[in-house]
Amino acid sequence: MSNTVDNGKRRFLTTAASVVVGGAGAAAVAVPFVTSMLPSAKAQAAGAPVEADISKLTMGQQMTIEWRGKPVWIIRRSTETIENLASLDSLLVDPGSSVASQQPEYCKNDTRSIRDEIIVLVGVCTHLGCSPTYRPELAPEDLGPEWKGGFYCPCHGSRFDLAGRVYAGVPAPTNLVVPPYFFQGDNRIVIGEDAQGAA
Ligand code: FES
Repeated sequence: MSNTVDNGKRRFLTTAASVVVGGAGAAAVAVPFVTSMLPSAKAQAAGAPVEADISKLTMGQQMTIEWRGKPVWIIRRSTETIENLASLDSLLVDPGSSVASQQPEYCKNDTRSIRDEIIVLVGVCTHLGCSPTYRPELAPEDLGPEWKGGFYCPCHGSRFDLAGRVYAGVPAPTNLVVPPYFFQGDNRIVIGEDAQGAA
């Protein structure tokens, strides 16, 4: 594992950060953005698991790491956020995560996570592959009074909640993907394989 940030990865991270800020609009909410440990180029090419240190991830904050050339988001959710999830079920396509390809079995639950507080998602829209924008605000003007935080895809308007579940009536057909992952202690997540070593 290398902590070196090469230019290629820096470009990736800068782009990802721009999407977050740009999507928040003129009255930009300063969504904190945390970079993390990065895989070596060799590990990336091989599709190897990558590790993330979440010790500095504060409530509501999003960090993005790269796994297999894709952004993976890690967000620390508040108790309020977690409680809000159930209230959204009637607005969603697949509130119970029934599509097996979209998450490992151990994340097929109400919060789509191993620990309720931490959500891990592949940041790629399930419509045509754009990277949605993190919009944690409650009821922002452009997303409407029912918005309880989530992800908005700027390409064609798909919306996802803070568990990555897709809203009905948008182009994206399925929930965002939860990758295989597991915790190594309190503050380290291994992304790309589960605790049994399955990718
Ligand atoms: S790619 Fe996200 S809505 Fe089309």
